[in-house]
Amino acid sequence: MDMMQKINEAKNYIRTKSSLSPKIGLVLGSGLGSLVEEMTDAVHIPFESIPHFAIPTVEGHSGKVVIGKLNGVLVVALSGRYHYYEGYDLSVVTFPIRVMKMLGVETVILTNACGAVNKDFKPGDLMLITDHLNLTANNPLIGKNIDFLGPRFADASEIYTKQLRCIAHEAAYELKMKLQEGVYTWWTGPSYETPAEIKMIRILGGDAVGMSTVPESLVASHMGMQVLGISCLTNMASGILDQKLSHHEVLEVASSVKYQFSLLIKSIVSKIK
Ligand code: HPA
Repeated sequence: MDMMQKINEAKNYIRTKSSLSPKIGLVLGSGLGSLVEEMTDAVHIPFESIPHFAIPTVEGHSGKVVIGKLNGVLVVALSGRYHYYEGYDLSVVTFPIRVMKMLGVETVILTNACGAVNKDFKPGDLMLITDHLNLTANNPLIGKNIDFLGPRFADASEIYTKQLRCIAHEAAYELKMKLQEGVYTWWTGPSYETPAEIKMIRILGGDAVGMSTVPESLVASHMGMQVLGISCLTNMASGILDQKLSHHEVLEVASSVKYQFSLLIKSIVSKIK
């Protein structure tokens, strides 16, 4: 079966669960998934029930697509996402974004937890993604191009839409929240980086490093979607402090800023026309 057929089957299934047509899509990263609990008139659709969505590998609860209203604004949210380090092909990792597009989504907000490479940042800071560095030598657009979705050679000069970045800054200002900005570096994981790799990333111009978001932003941008990326800096990257990195710490810090992060996302969503 070809990719467009798969995308349409997934879309048609979701349509049988909700007839709402949100223009905004949200991908909720580590610690932010519970934002879907604040959605009203919401329909929850587990990933594994949707045709061609992969079976999640992460232990515990799996991801879900939630369609409903956030702050009164129609959105489709992914609580959970697929990661490259889980062993999925990038076409699987980015599949939900393509389905969102077919559902009518025009703007996608990608969130994640990541490590701070820029020493001016602190754990718990939120960072607006201005651009990215893809250091994985992989790209979800490799392979036969789906001309219906976008061009073979997609422009990448402004993946993270300037106008949305302005909206995010305006929202943060109104909420009296600090919002850093910088370049997000995609590293495959699942092991964290070495101190030497972090030094390299800093020299190359990266301000933060994480294991997601870039595949989704490339695919969204390829389809002409407006993209906003916001990271929660959960830790100083490897080698900056004299301490080991732990997933536990990442989750703890992500959870401690969840409330502020949620306020920011809700405000941004209500400002998008
Ligand atoms: N590196 C990569 N991914 C991450 C990190 C990190 O330091 N923290 C949270 N996700």
